[in-house]
Amino acid sequence: MNAPTHSAFANTAEEAIAAQDALDDPMTSEKATEVAMQNTLLTPRFYTTDFAEMDAIDVTPVREDWDRLIAQMKSDPNKGHFKKNEDWDNVDWEGMEPALKAEFIDFLISSCTAEFSGCVLYKEMKRRGSNEDITTLFQLMARDEARHAGFINDALREAGVRVNLGFLTQQKKYTYFRPKFIYYATYLSEKIGYARYITIYRHLEENPELRFHPIFKWFREWCNDEFSHGEAFALLMKSDPKLTESFGNKLWIKFFLTAVYSTMWVRDHQRPLFHEALGVDVTWYGQEVFRKTSEISKQIFPMTLDIDHPRWRKNLDRMEAASRQIAAAKARGGLGGMMSRLGGMAKAATAFVLVFTIPAKAHSVPTSTRMEPTY
Ligand SMILES: [Fe+2]
Ligand SMILES: [Fe+2]
Repeated sequence: MNAPTHSAFANTAEEAIAAQDALDDPMTSEKATEVAMQNTLLTPRFYTTDFAEMDAIDVTPVREDWDRLIAQMKSDPNKGHFKKNEDWDNVDWEGMEPALKAEFIDFLISSCTAEFSGCVLYKEMKRRGSNEDITTLFQLMARDEARHAGFINDALREAGVRVNLGFLTQQKKYTYFRPKFIYYATYLSEKIGYARYITIYRHLEENPELRFHPIFKWFREWCNDEFSHGEAFALLMKSDPKLTESFGNKLWIKFFLTAVYSTMWVRDHQRPLFHEALGVDVTWYGQEVFRKTSEISKQIFPMTLDIDHPRWRKNLDRMEAASRQIAAAKARGGLGGMMSRLGGMAKAATAFVLVFTIPAKAHSVPTSTRMEPTY
C-alpha cells in the first residue's frame, strides 16, 4: 500500500504523522515544539493509563448504539477534508498585528498539541489492546486526531512555525490517569471541543467579515468528529453504570466538570486580542460553551454545574487573576517571586474550592445516550 501524501487522506494515525513529518526538515521550528513541550496546569498534556483495564471493557450492554457509531466512523465522511483547498484564502501573516499574531500562533500551537495529545493516547490504546471493539474505536479516533493536528500544522507552517509531532511523541512527559479519569476528562474535552468549534463557526457564519483566518471555515466538519469521539466515551461509560452512579464517582465527575470549565475560562481570558479580532466577548463565549457542553453532557452525567450561581463567574475571574499573578511571579523569580507565587496558588485553590462547592443540578439520565450534533 502506498502511504498517502497528505495527512487528510491517511487511514491511520501513523500514516498521518509520517505524511506530516515528511513535509519539513525535522530541525525547523524548535520554538513551537518547545512551547508544545511545556507542562503546566494550563497547557495540554499527554496522558497514559492502565491499558489492560481499558482493554477489558465489555460493550455488550450498549451493543446496538456502539455498532451504529463505529459504522458511521468507519464510513469516514471527513476523509480528505483536512487539507487546504480553494476555500483557503491567502493569509496576510506579515500584515497581522504582531500581538494578535503571537496570540493566534499560541492558540494554534496549543490546539495542535491538544489534538495530538488525543492522538497519542488513542494510538497507544489501539497498539496495546486486543479487544476488537476497543482497538477499532481507538484506531478510528487516533486517525481523526492525527488529521486535525496535521491540518493545524499546515496552517502554522505558513507562519514559519510547526510542531514536530514525531519528536513530541517521544519526548513529551506523560501523565498517568486511571481509566475512569480518562473517561471523564476525555469525554468532556471532546464535547467541550465540539461546543467551542461550533460556537465560533456559527458566530463567523453570521459575521464573515471577522474571519481573519481561513481555518475557521473547517470548524463544522471538525467539530462533528469531536462530537462522535465524545459519543464513544459516553457509550464506554454507559457500559459500566457504576462509573456515573456511585456517590464517589459523582464527586469525581463534578471535580472534572469544574476543572475542565475553569481551565478553559482561564486559558481563553489570556487571549484577549484573539477573541477581540473574532468579535467574540470572551466571557459570553465561555458561558455559551459551558451551556452547550452541560446540555450535551446530560446524556451521561447525572449532574450539571450551576453556571448562573453568583459564586461561579466571580471565582473563575479570581482564578484567572491568580494565574496571572503566578505567571508574573515566576518571571520575576527570587524570594519575592516565590512568595507571590505561593500567594497566587493559595488564591487559585480557594477560588476553586468556592466554585467546586456550588451545589450541582441533579438530572436523571436517558436510557440510550446517543445524540446527534444539533448546534
Ligand atoms: Fe480533534
Ligand atoms: Fe477528538
